[in-house]
Amino acid sequence: MLSTRFLSVLAILPIVLSSPVFTNLVLHEQRDDVPDGFVKSSAAPSDQVLNLRLGLVQGDMATLEQRLYAVSTPSSSQYGQHLSKEQVESYVKPAAETTSLVNEWLSANGLTATTISPAGDWLAVSMPVSKASSLFDAEFSVFTHQQTGKQTVRTLAYSIPSALSGHLDFVHPTITFENPFANLPVVFTPKSSPSSKRSKLASRAGPDSCSEVITPTCLQDLYGIPATPATQSTNGLGVSGFIDQFANEADLTTFLQNFRPDMPDNTTFFLAEIDDGENLQDPDDAGVEANLDTQFTIGVATGVNVSFISVGDDFQDGNLEGFLDIINFLLSVENQPQVLTTSYGQNENTISRNLAVNLCNAYMQLGARGTSILFASGDGGVSGSQQTNNCRTFVPTFPSGCPFMTSVGATDGTGPEVAASFSSGGFSNFFAQPSYQSSAVSTFLKNLGSTNSGKFNTSGRAFPDISAQGNNVEIVVGGEFGTVGGTSCASPIFASVFSLLNDELIAAGKPVLGFLNPFLYSTGADALTDITSGTNPGCRTNGFSAGTGWDPVTGLGTPNFAKLRTAVGL
Ligand SMILES: *[C@@H]1O[C@H](CO)[C@@H](O)[C@H](O)[C@H]1NC(C)=O
Ligand SMILES: *[C@@H]1O[C@H](CO)[C@@H](O)[C@H](O)[C@H]1NC(C)=O
Ligand SMILES: *[C@@H]1O[C@H](CO)[C@@H](O)[C@H](O)[C@H]1NC(C)=O
Repeated sequence: MLSTRFLSVLAILPIVLSSPVFTNLVLHEQRDDVPDGFVKSSAAPSDQVLNLRLGLVQGDMATLEQRLYAVSTPSSSQYGQHLSKEQVESYVKPAAETTSLVNEWLSANGLTATTISPAGDWLAVSMPVSKASSLFDAEFSVFTHQQTGKQTVRTLAYSIPSALSGHLDFVHPTITFENPFANLPVVFTPKSSPSSKRSKLASRAGPDSCSEVITPTCLQDLYGIPATPATQSTNGLGVSGFIDQFANEADLTTFLQNFRPDMPDNTTFFLAEIDDGENLQDPDDAGVEANLDTQFTIGVATGVNVSFISVGDDFQDGNLEGFLDIINFLLSVENQPQVLTTSYGQNENTISRNLAVNLCNAYMQLGARGTSILFASGDGGVSGSQQTNNCRTFVPTFPSGCPFMTSVGATDGTGPEVAASFSSGGFSNFFAQPSYQSSAVSTFLKNLGSTNSGKFNTSGRAFPDISAQGNNVEIVVGGEFGTVGGTSCASPIFASVFSLLNDELIAAGKPVLGFLNPFLYSTGADALTDITSGTNPGCRTNGFSAGTGWDPVTGLGTPNFAKLRTAVGL
């Protein structure tokens, strides 16, 4: 009724209610300076085509957030009642007015956009630099990363028509810079022979040999992880693969033959490919990170259906390297994996705040649907994704600062475990501290006193949440045995633990764990082994110290499978 009326009024008064004026540009986003390591080289060629992404203001994320917490908090009456794909999309879908205003503005400028996300909140549109410069009152320039020589076209500020404020959330890529060091693969140190064949599996020798090299058997011993196969075919564990890191099947077979002789050596992963992703199988193409992530999920989450999601270079998300594409892909399918592990990330200060919020909201959506999202926290201690002393204040990593995912730090050694010195941890400058961690974090801050005062944001979301083994982890790459270290190891290991718990929950007719943090910081905390020594230095400081209770080095601690089983109600 109402809408018909409105339409007829429109029809009568076409001139008065004609298109809003899109000419009044107002500054929308800016960064104060060029990120460390980049220099402005020249103006961008005016005919260079920019493949831009427009993030529209999403419908009702505040209500979706409330629903996420209701289904993820153990004390809530709605715990475990995860939302369907359609329910989630109904909250995310931009208001009709938003979509039509943005399209009206585009068409007034001779442009047409394509919708690239299931809920319609992301649009893709291409235009030359000359057009983008006037449309957004921006100065697109070529920026060179000095150390790598990598060039990228960005602007330090852009504007949008005032009529679109509250509708157009952000334009990407504009002020977000790539982090050229974000995705350096973990370092692989070859060994002369596999260690476990000689001793560990034969004798199941305890902590001594595991203090030198970590195999699946060590993790089973240390954390009480069962070796019996999972039984539920609907239970899935997703492994993110980026930057042409391929998971090698022959290496997986060799790994299983040596470290899991009790498993069929033809156990493999389900391959999903997006953005023209591939999974090349030449031994030279074997990726250290991809092999680590598949070997330490398939080899630890015994019998769980592991999907390796290979994201190619044909990004739909505009130089986000597939970070958003993989989530949009999982949001687009009905039966997404119940656990997702990702060992990639970057420094928070390289990303625009609006874009970071949008990506974080994508994790919120997947979490509301019942997926546990785990990311490695980073390998630079308090200095971010890579170790450096070249920072005045601590550098939080992304997406660890997002409150809707679970950040995994690393430990070292087995008798007892201590914090790994590279384990990134700290406090976000973008995301406020969520209430689920306020008690744990305020206890930490009280005990910390004035140490490192002024170097971090005490009101930010604190990370990591949990931790697991991250050093001297043995894998096979290109037929060679060797060890790797990094929080990249810890995320797939802890993800495997949650997948095995989910398997038992499904078998018992119970809902899967979904978004983990409200559980971890409440009934789950006592089911973790608190790590109480070690530090994560960086930025010319000793960083933070692990201690009793939560800390920004190892979070709440490492898994104790038997206690977790009880804590989740099995
Ligand atoms: C494993 O998961 C993938 C993706 O959901 C699915 O297509 C495949 O059929 C599953 N495999 C088994 C053996 O259940
Ligand atoms: C693995 O090998 C077993 C026995 O040789 C066979 O029954 C099974 O189908 C194989 N599985 C796969 C995934 O190839
Ligand atoms: C500190 O974090 C809050 C979010 O909790 C943010 O709003 C604020 O801008 C941050 N301060 C700085 C200096 O980054």
